[in-house]
This record gives sequence, C-alpha cells and structure tokens, in this order.
Amino acid sequence: MTKQRKGIILAGGSGTRLWPITMGASKQLLPVYDKPMIYYPLSVLMLSGIREIAIITTPEDQAQFQRLMGDGSQWGLAFTWIIQARPEGLAQAYLLAGDFLAGAPSLMVLGDNIFFGHGLPEMLARASAQETGGTVFGYRVADPERYGVVDFDADGRVRSIIEKPEIPPSNYAVTGLYCLDGTAPAKAAQITPSVRGELEITALLEIYLAQGTLTVETMGRGYAWLDTGTHDSMLDAGNFVRTLQERQGLQIGSPDEIAFHQGWISPDTLRARARLFGKSTYGRYLHALVG
Ligand code: TTP
Repeated sequence: MTKQRKGIILAGGSGTRLWPITMGASKQLLPVYDKPMIYYPLSVLMLSGIREIAIITTPEDQAQFQRLMGDGSQWGLAFTWIIQARPEGLAQAYLLAGDFLAGAPSLMVLGDNIFFGHGLPEMLARASAQETGGTVFGYRVADPERYGVVDFDADGRVRSIIEKPEIPPSNYAVTGLYCLDGTAPAKAAQITPSVRGELEITALLEIYLAQGTLTVETMGRGYAWLDTGTHDSMLDAGNFVRTLQERQGLQIGSPDEIAFHQGWISPDTLRARARLFGKSTYGRYLHALVG
C-alpha cells in the first residue's frame, strides 16, 4: 500500500540578508502584512491535503515557533518539531526528517516562500499523485542568477539544474516547493557538501534527473511566487497580500480558513478561534466565515 504523503516546512537558516532584524527573531516568524510568514507555506501544504507536517527550525527559534503554532491540533494537523543545528543546506532537511518520513513521499516547502494562484491545489494534486520520482516547479523570474535555474534542451526537456549560475541558461528558477518520493532521504545521504559547505537541493534533484524521474512543471504567469529573503522582497510580499486581500475581501494564507474548508475543524472550533483572535481583522474575518 502506498504511504500517505507528508509535509516538511524548512524554517531554519540564518537570514543574514535581513540583519539586523533576524539577529533577534527567525525570518519565518516575521510579519508578511497581517500574518507570520510561516502561515503562507503552511497553507500550501494544507491546500494539498497534507496533515502530518515536520517543521524544521534552528535550536534557538524552536520554542517561539511552538508558542505560535503548538502541536497543530487547532487546525486538525499533527506537527513534528525537528531541529537543524546549523544551516547546512536545504537537502539536509531530508536527512533530518528521515525518521519522520519513514519511507513516505513528501512535499517540502521553504518557510520563506509564498505561492498564490488559481489552480494551485490542482497543480499540487497532480504532482502528489505521482508515486515515484519527483516534481519541482519552474517559475519565470527576471533575476534567475539568484536561484537554481533550469537548463532546458531544444525539445523543452530538462538537461540540468544549475545553482546560482553566472550566465543563466533560462529565466526559469526552481521554486522552494519540492514534491519527492520516499527515496529522498536515501538520495540526500549520497550528496557531499558544496564549496559553500551546504548539502544543495540541486545536487539532490540532479540524482533524480540522472535517473530520469524528475518532472519540472512550469508555473504560468497567472501564479505569484514570492520569496521574502530581503527587505525589499518582504515589503513587496506584504504589499501584494494587502492589495489582494483588500480588493477581494478574502484572506491569503489563513490556516484556520483552509482547515475549516477541508473539513478538518468544526464550525464550533472555528468560532472559538475567531473569538480567540478577538478584534483583530483576522479574527473578524474568521467570525464572518462561520457566522
Ligand atoms: P536562504 O534564503 O537561502 O538562507 P537564509 O534564510 O539563511 O537567509 P540568508 O541568505 O539571508 O542568510 O534559505 C531559504 C529558506 O530555507 C529559508 O526559509 C531558510 C531555510 N533554510 C534552512 O532552514 N536551513 C538551511 O540550511 C538553509 C540554507 C536554509
């Protein structure tokens, strides 16, 4: 029987590009407009139907994340808390989460990535339905040299993925959302650290690519993919969320709303949550959802 896909949120790192702010708090706890940053990647996992989630943090920040998010039961989720002692790369997450995954396939999202777009749950469902191999998502950006970049051949097949190339082979960056099968921890164990001392996610993806089991799905221009690693990108993301929420009267990245729509929490639980948030706009929004 195939195992249920599990989720991973990678929310460690040092956030040096956001110093001095991140000298005192984890990047992923900072606000993106009206919510903590980690709510947005969490929402992506929830939209794909995942309820068992490992949250990887630095040792210093774990208690604060737990204060914010508890054990996940308020959203009908089960959290497993894992520490990454040092920021030794994205692929290290699969080594740290090996016991948690116990052979299950996974969807990993970076704690500072925000995804938005019509059809996102369907796109995630398509990727999740694949039992073997992996799917990552390519997104067109103006500054690909900052990311892992997809090198396509003349037929549009993926030749390689190159980390922060000086001369990018395309404008397609690999986003921070990785849908991999149960072999990811074993594959991550084969990687050696790069010159910058990290277990690179591109090295892990290269192993899948060499086996011919990596799919790169491109997210069209109707999607927004924002990362929030710099002061400007964080402010841009906050403004993006504010603009859409004000225009539509709908929340982006509300775990409470998604849990309710997924049927994971009852109307009474949502009412209690709305009361808990009291007079904040977030609380009033939840209250209006459930009446
Ligand atoms: P980055 O933005 O590459 O790194 P960072 O968050 O440490 O920030 P900076 O470059 O400013 O020093 O990380 C992307 C995401 O992955 C972010 O959410 C933090 C997380 N991360 C880890 O949890 N562990 C790691 O070892 C690395 C490298 C990143």
